[in-house]
Amino acid sequence: EKGGYDSFMEKEINDQPQAVADTLLGRSDADGRLTLDELRVSPEELKSINKIMVLACGTSAYAGQVAKYAIEHWCRIPVEVELSHEFRYRDPIVDSNTLIVAISQSGETMDTLMAVRYAKEQGAKVLAICNTNGSTIPREADAVLYTHAGPEIAVASTKAFLAQITATYLLGLYLAQIRGNKFQGEIKDILADLAKVPAKIQQVLDSAEDIKELGKLMADTSSVLFLGRHVGFPVAMEGALKLKELAYIHAEGFAAGELKHGPIALIEEGQPVFVVVPSPRGRDSLHAKVVSNIQEIRARGAKTIVIAEEGDDAVKAYAEHIFYVPETPTLLAPLLTTVPLQIFACVLATAKGYDVDQPRNLAKSVTVE
Ligand code: M6R
Repeated sequence: EKGGYDSFMEKEINDQPQAVADTLLGRSDADGRLTLDELRVSPEELKSINKIMVLACGTSAYAGQVAKYAIEHWCRIPVEVELSHEFRYRDPIVDSNTLIVAISQSGETMDTLMAVRYAKEQGAKVLAICNTNGSTIPREADAVLYTHAGPEIAVASTKAFLAQITATYLLGLYLAQIRGNKFQGEIKDILADLAKVPAKIQQVLDSAEDIKELGKLMADTSSVLFLGRHVGFPVAMEGALKLKELAYIHAEGFAAGELKHGPIALIEEGQPVFVVVPSPRGRDSLHAKVVSNIQEIRARGAKTIVIAEEGDDAVKAYAEHIFYVPETPTLLAPLLTTVPLQIFACVLATAKGYDVDQPRNLAKSVTVE
C-alpha cells in the first residue's frame, strides 16, 4: 500500500503530480471556462461578496496564505487569512457579504469546524476546500470544492497541501471569471500554465538526488532557518513546519524582507538558511532584493541553501547549495518550490531514525480544540 516506498510520506510526496492533475481534472472546459457547478453556491451569491477570509490551521493555513496573493491579484477582492483558533476569539468582522474559505485536509479539525460554525452564525457564507469526502466541515459548509489528492495517511501534509493550493487557484480564477476581473483569454492562459505544473513537479521529483544527499548530510543540524518573499514566504513557513514536525529540529520561517528587522541577528558562522528565491522574470525587483538578502547572510557566515528557478545564474555566487525548479509564473511557483523542502525534511528525519509517518506527539486530524 506504500507503493514500493519506505513510508507513506515518501509515497505521498511522489503522488503530487497526480494530486495536482486530479484536482484540476474536469473543472474547466475546452475554452478555458471554469465549471465549478459542484460548489452549491450560485454565481450571483459569489458576485456579492466583498471580502474573503480564509480559516485554517497548520499547513492548510499556509495554503491559504498562498491563496491570498493569487486571489487578490486576480480578483481584486481583499483576502484575509487567519488561524481558525484565533478567529472566533477576537470579535471578527464578518457578515453576509463575507465569503469564508475553510481549508482542511481532514475536514474534521475541531478548531476550523468551530470557526466555521461561528462564521455561519454571523451570516457569512462558508466554502470548504477539503480532501475528505463527506467529512464534517464540508457537510456543514454552504459550498465545497474538493481537492482530489486521494487519502493522505502520513501525519505531515504534503500532497494535500499542493492540492489545496491548486483548488484555491481554481476558486480565484472562477471568481475572476464570474466577476469579470479578467478576460477569458487570460484565465485560459493561467489554466494552461497550471496544466503544465504536474509534469514540472515530476521533474523536481526526478532530480531530487542532491537534495536527498543534503538531507542525509545535515542530520546533525540543530537549527535551520527558511526565508521567502511574496508566495515564497508561506513556502518558507511550510518548509520550517515540515522540519519541526518530522525531524524535531528547531526551524523558523521568515519573510526575507523582515531579516534586517531582527532575525539577521541569528546568523552566525555555519547557520543553515534555506532561501526560496522568486523568479528573476517577475515584474518587480523582488528577485534582486532576495539575492541581496542571500549576500548579506552569506557575508555573516550562513550556509546558504537556495531554491531558485532554472536559468537563474545571479544566485550562484552566493549559494553553497542550489536546487533549481522549472520555470513557471510566480503565483504558481509554490507548487514547485515546496517539493524540495518536503523531500529535505523527510530524508533528514529518516536519517535520524525517526518515523516520518507518525511523528511524536502529533495526530493526523486534531479533533479537539
Ligand atoms: O486536516 P487539516 O488540514 O484541517 O489539518 C490542519 C493541520 O492540523 C495540519 O495541516 C498539520 O499542520 C499537519 N501536521 C501539517 O503537516
